[in-house]
Amino acid sequence: MVVQDFAQSALVPFAPFFAHWQESAAGAWLPRLRALTQERLQAPRHGDWSQWMALLARLPDIQPHERCFDQPCVGVMSAQPLDAAAHGELRDALMGLHPWRKGPFCLHGVTIDAEWRSDWKWARAAGALGDLRDALVLDLGCGNGYYGYRALGAGARLVLGIDPGLRFVAQFLAVNHFLRSDRLAVLPLADEDLYDQTAGVDLLLSMGVLYHRRDPLRHLNILRRLLRPGGRLLLETLVLDAPGDALLEPSGRYAQMRNVYAIPSVTRLNAWLRETGFCHIELVDLTPTTSAEQRSTEWMRFQSLADFLDPKEPSRTCEGHPAPVRAMLLAEA
Ligand SMILES: C[S@@+](CC[C@H](N)C(=O)[O-])C[C@H]1O[C@@H](n2cnc3c(N)ncnc32)[C@H](O)[C@@H]1O
Repeated sequence: MVVQDFAQSALVPFAPFFAHWQESAAGAWLPRLRALTQERLQAPRHGDWSQWMALLARLPDIQPHERCFDQPCVGVMSAQPLDAAAHGELRDALMGLHPWRKGPFCLHGVTIDAEWRSDWKWARAAGALGDLRDALVLDLGCGNGYYGYRALGAGARLVLGIDPGLRFVAQFLAVNHFLRSDRLAVLPLADEDLYDQTAGVDLLLSMGVLYHRRDPLRHLNILRRLLRPGGRLLLETLVLDAPGDALLEPSGRYAQMRNVYAIPSVTRLNAWLRETGFCHIELVDLTPTTSAEQRSTEWMRFQSLADFLDPKEPSRTCEGHPAPVRAMLLAEA
């Protein structure tokens, strides 16, 4: 069904969400959201896209009985459990979208045990965020939308997720085929695509994105402009757990990642936030990433954090940098 829909317009699966977005305080973004989504999904740059859409078209249509967005395993159950054959087919279909980086999801008895325990990150954020009742949320660099569902579970009215990774968009479409939320969308956009939009959201999540940006201050500037005055930013990023305003700019790889440009100390990060117009800045969490939180599973069969640390000195990456520590800051625009 999705494939037929896409043949007409890449926007069909997102139409109910767009209708809600149009009514929101950031409704003025809609023409840009629609145009870029259409352009990128109609002629997708990823060679596997049509194969993923064919896979989605074969997903079974199962009536949801109970949906759950406020528990670690975001999921849905039908009134009748699937029989073994249907369960196996569903598992194989979802496995076709490997690797699953963010989760867990529990879809009609199939548990997607993703590389990241994203529920742990959400648990660290949730206490600081509090009740999200009625909030308009942008999750920038959202992966497959896991946190968007959790934000809805915490009361948010509408969550726009954007991520340039097309596999994440495909995974979202698969998950949402079963969860059937018209209050969340994952669109194939990046921060720069929205840089000149006015009006703004109540809450912006930027988690795990800042260190991937060549110009982190520009990223923070974009975030501030996308928030309404007084809106809140939850910024999560790699930091140096060191005093002063230290900054690591890896010249080669960092924990085998090619695109890590800047890892500031918390003091430096605070200064960047102030410089780009944020106030009431609060450090809400500082946590070393462990190989219990980020690991290979059957749903992500490639190497993971344990392979990227120095086996003799796990407080260092294999390149000799300090091992990953992540900070979460809350700030007001
Ligand atoms: C380390 S992952 C973090 C995913 C998720 N936010 C989390 O915290 O688990 C970084 C994500 O940012 C996305 N990304 C990279 N560059 C981006 C950009 N310029 N704008 C928005 N997202 C971007 C990547 O595709 C990837 O999904």
